[in-house]
Amino acid sequence: MAQLEQEAKKRRTFAIISHPDAGKTTLTEKLLLLGGAIRSAGAVKARKTGKFATSDWMELEKQRGISVTSSVMQFEYDDFKINILDTPGHQDFSEDTYRTLMAVDSVVMILDAAKGVEPQTKKLFKVCSDRGIPIFTFINKLDRVGKEPLELFEELEDVLGIASCPVNYPIGMGPTFRGVFDRFNNEIEFYGEGKKLSSLKVDGPEAVREALQSQADEDVLVQLEEELLLLEEAGNPFDMEKVLEGKLTPVFFGSAVSSFGVPTFLKHYLTMAPPPAPRESSIGTIEPKDDVFSGFIFKIQANMNPAHRDRIAFLRICSGKYEKGMETWLDRTGKPIKLAQPQQFFADSRENIDEAYPGDIVGIYDPGIYQIGDTLVGKKDTFNFGKLPQFSPEHFAKVRPKTALKAKHFQKGMQQLAQEGAVQVYKTERFEETVLGAVGQLQFDVFIYRMEAEYNVDLDIQPLTYRVARWLNDDEIPTEALRSTSNMVVRDHRNRPVILFENEFGLQWFQQKNPDIHLSETSL
Ligand code: G4P
Repeated sequence: MAQLEQEAKKRRTFAIISHPDAGKTTLTEKLLLLGGAIRSAGAVKARKTGKFATSDWMELEKQRGISVTSSVMQFEYDDFKINILDTPGHQDFSEDTYRTLMAVDSVVMILDAAKGVEPQTKKLFKVCSDRGIPIFTFINKLDRVGKEPLELFEELEDVLGIASCPVNYPIGMGPTFRGVFDRFNNEIEFYGEGKKLSSLKVDGPEAVREALQSQADEDVLVQLEEELLLLEEAGNPFDMEKVLEGKLTPVFFGSAVSSFGVPTFLKHYLTMAPPPAPRESSIGTIEPKDDVFSGFIFKIQANMNPAHRDRIAFLRICSGKYEKGMETWLDRTGKPIKLAQPQQFFADSRENIDEAYPGDIVGIYDPGIYQIGDTLVGKKDTFNFGKLPQFSPEHFAKVRPKTALKAKHFQKGMQQLAQEGAVQVYKTERFEETVLGAVGQLQFDVFIYRMEAEYNVDLDIQPLTYRVARWLNDDEIPTEALRSTSNMVVRDHRNRPVILFENEFGLQWFQQKNPDIHLSETSL
């Protein structure tokens, strides 16, 4: 097999999605520890709380503990090269979080066993399932009392609409938690005092009782037997094709804080999860093993240090090999660009690299020439992977410069920051006022900060009560939309009409009244 194809096959590029506090940071850390990418527990956690910030990150980044290095982490395990992309939550939740999911080949969804599917999990899941990518579920915190496994499977099916197939099954929970039974390997993994004690091969689910007789309470054994039998007879059979289409999620149980279940999860995950997939482009399907280098930019992180306004653009490599100093062409402009000193990201550092392969994410220096969704190709005769969708913001505000004298700076800043994808910018249909839309509150804070720091504009901000945006497929704005007082019609930066609603209820009401008007949740 050619080296390029071999390297691509080793890559697994994924994101961990979860609601805050389900255990994403903890699981990430345990995975990095397994891969030897960090030496001590606490390194990722420290970054989350901001203790890791080094001097050249912008003030706001420091305050919030966000860093370029935590956006992508690469490590090796069992001859696999693993790229984990961070999907910030809490107040850092932003459109970047969604866009990052456009650059991965699969996702790991963590649920807190006690809480099940939570709101942020739902939002992130939707973006992944719309793309049809494989979703692996890790149900965490089994050391505490949580919901029953069967209840959790039902929730996956009812709330998220995805069928599930447990790869391992918990033996008790909370105080009665004894470990998990690996249904695929017929192996019991014993849990004890916060560590994986040992494992035991058994002949099949029937032999589980005997092996556990002295360890688990009778009622735990009875329940386990019944449920394993139920799964054998009525559960979803494992079907790799459905997993790869994102229609069936393999489920794992564990306790990330004690690393219990994490090594076996990783082993199964690496064999099941797909390597970099082919991508559709303007000239047809591009295979990772194609010789011509290509990739697209899914995130731009501004350093925001006014002294040197450098930005890092995150490029997902889709085909070919990156080689140091290579020449590429930016499809949008047709102009050549030498990729000097791209960086790759490790657990706690970034390093200049000489080569990178499909599935890898490289950070390239951006002197202000890139836009989200840009394609770079290693030959003059370029193509593109299409635009990345815009997602419905949940926060809106009207903005204008505090003094009219700054109108020009204001326009320039707005235009540049919208192109960079920092925030969505709209104009009201009637009076051409500027409306900003953001997925998370931090996006606004960053935007205000950057308008001041980089464009020298103080803003007047008037928050709006809208919470949902829907794109109209037609350029024409229906009069029904303009007549209503409870929504607002705006145009996005590509002049496409968008209706803003105060809540989901308002949206549903509008749709019931106007079934012929087609509305989209994302826009291309
Ligand atoms: P997040 O990134 O998804 O927001 O979650 P994070 O890993 O920070 O975990 C949230 C909390 O849940 C942390 O507790 C963490 O220790 C705890 N946790 C993670 N995995 C498990 C688990 O398997 N079992 C139990 N019982 N707890 C778990 P914290 O009190 O917020 O922080 P800390 O005091 O532990 O640092």
